[in-house]
Amino acid sequence: MSFPKVNPTQTQAWKSLSTHFQEVKYLKMQDLFTENPKRAQQFSLQWKDFYIDYSKNRITQTTLNQLLQLAEEVQLKDAMEAQFTGEHINETEDRAVGHTQLRNFKNLPKEVSETLQQIQNFTQRVIEGDWKGYTGKKITHVVNIGIGGSDLGPDMVCEALRYYKNHLEVRFVSNVDGDHVMETIKDLDRETTLFIIVSKTFTTQETLTNATTIRNWFLQEASEGDIAQHFAAVSTNLEAVANFGIASENIFPMWDWVGGRFSLWSAVGLSVACAIGYHHFEDLLKGAHEMDLHFRESDFSENIPVVLALLSIWYNNFFEAESECIVPYSQYLNKLVAYLQQGIMESNGKSVDRNGNPIDYQTGTIVWGSTGTNAQHAFFQLIHQGTKLIPTDFIAFKKSLYGNEDHQNKLLANCFAQTEALLQGTHGSEVENSFKVFEGNKPTNTLLIETLTPKSLGSLIAMYEHKLFVQGVIWNIFSYDQWGVELGKKLAKETLSAIEKKDVSSMPNAATKKLIQQLK
Ligand code: F6P
Repeated sequence: MSFPKVNPTQTQAWKSLSTHFQEVKYLKMQDLFTENPKRAQQFSLQWKDFYIDYSKNRITQTTLNQLLQLAEEVQLKDAMEAQFTGEHINETEDRAVGHTQLRNFKNLPKEVSETLQQIQNFTQRVIEGDWKGYTGKKITHVVNIGIGGSDLGPDMVCEALRYYKNHLEVRFVSNVDGDHVMETIKDLDRETTLFIIVSKTFTTQETLTNATTIRNWFLQEASEGDIAQHFAAVSTNLEAVANFGIASENIFPMWDWVGGRFSLWSAVGLSVACAIGYHHFEDLLKGAHEMDLHFRESDFSENIPVVLALLSIWYNNFFEAESECIVPYSQYLNKLVAYLQQGIMESNGKSVDRNGNPIDYQTGTIVWGSTGTNAQHAFFQLIHQGTKLIPTDFIAFKKSLYGNEDHQNKLLANCFAQTEALLQGTHGSEVENSFKVFEGNKPTNTLLIETLTPKSLGSLIAMYEHKLFVQGVIWNIFSYDQWGVELGKKLAKETLSAIEKKDVSSMPNAATKKLIQQLK
């Protein structure tokens, strides 16, 4: 079976959708709800602890049927199987895409289960205080040094699962901004801090610079021989890690079949396992695996990632929506959007199709957002009354973790009320003047999950991973490379050399030359 390469705009479904769009684009959801008392039931999904309400979308059953037909015509099922069975679907890098294998507990690859065992042993020793620093003290702080996928996932999950945390304080340093690294380490005690350098390639400028600065800082008081008790690393580039001076027993492997932005489930999650303990980390993986099974085995019409992806295509390619918003009603999830931005935008920001041809339709959704209710007091005005159509995902948990009912009721009331306001607007009610008119008819999905646990978080993240994969398949792009980012990295090296040598002659652009000359 080979990875399908179908131009979506050439399918029958796309043509039908284009015609259908002209017929339904002005339909009011308010009317659709009035006409169909079963709409809420018809356009909702229940899966384990997840309830997904997608009835507040500008769709009819015909829209959904045609979108599902599109999924068939682009051979989504074959594409999914190609991914799950380890075909080299990342063709431009000739790699398999195996992040789901990292959490496939019924059939873990040998190297994965060995690494999980290594994570378990390591984190247990650190958490229980058996791991001692160079003066014999227990570890109290862990610092993750990494960027992009080697930072965003672990950082987001540590924040999201704070409730499940142990006594270890885990920090993250990512930016090559020297002030960031100094602020992160300035109050740390070298004797009780463990540094985890995370870099798939171990060539990333930011991470190696930060790691070297921290190593030098450490050596101001400790000796080379003490590094083994305070530095660990996660990478595919075992040779470079060894050259950096990391003891072999502190090196955790990664594999080229795991993309950086999907690597949280590998040893890249070591800092997560330190923060919440191995068994919670395993639950996170198990939650993701449950979503993998749901994605792989459910009919498309019942399939949460597929349905969400199709709705997103509907707005992106037919309504020409410019972006999508994600608003979790949980402060714990305040880093979720930044994490998803890398996953979604680094994957699907492509303009050449899988046949190597330039694309003449829109790909890659722009995603943005922040937590509710804060977001209501920031950018919601634009979603309500601005000129842009911004489909929004609302994510909420039925129960809070500390059980404060008063707060939780208010939080959920706001969440539901916003989707209602976006739907209804001032439709059918008297308003004093035109400035107070809300058109309504703004699409939303509401994801209502029982409670925030490692498992439900794992499922939620995996849901968005699969959603972006489905969209990439439909757009006929390769979602698992990131050549655009690579070019920036190359140019940064050349620019650095010009800045260091105070010589701009090699710089091709006059404006950039001038910028560099300002530094003198
Ligand atoms: O930003 C590009 C990128 O390659 C990401 O895909 C990756 O997560 C990040 O850089 C960090 O890379 P590495 O883990 O190799 O340091």
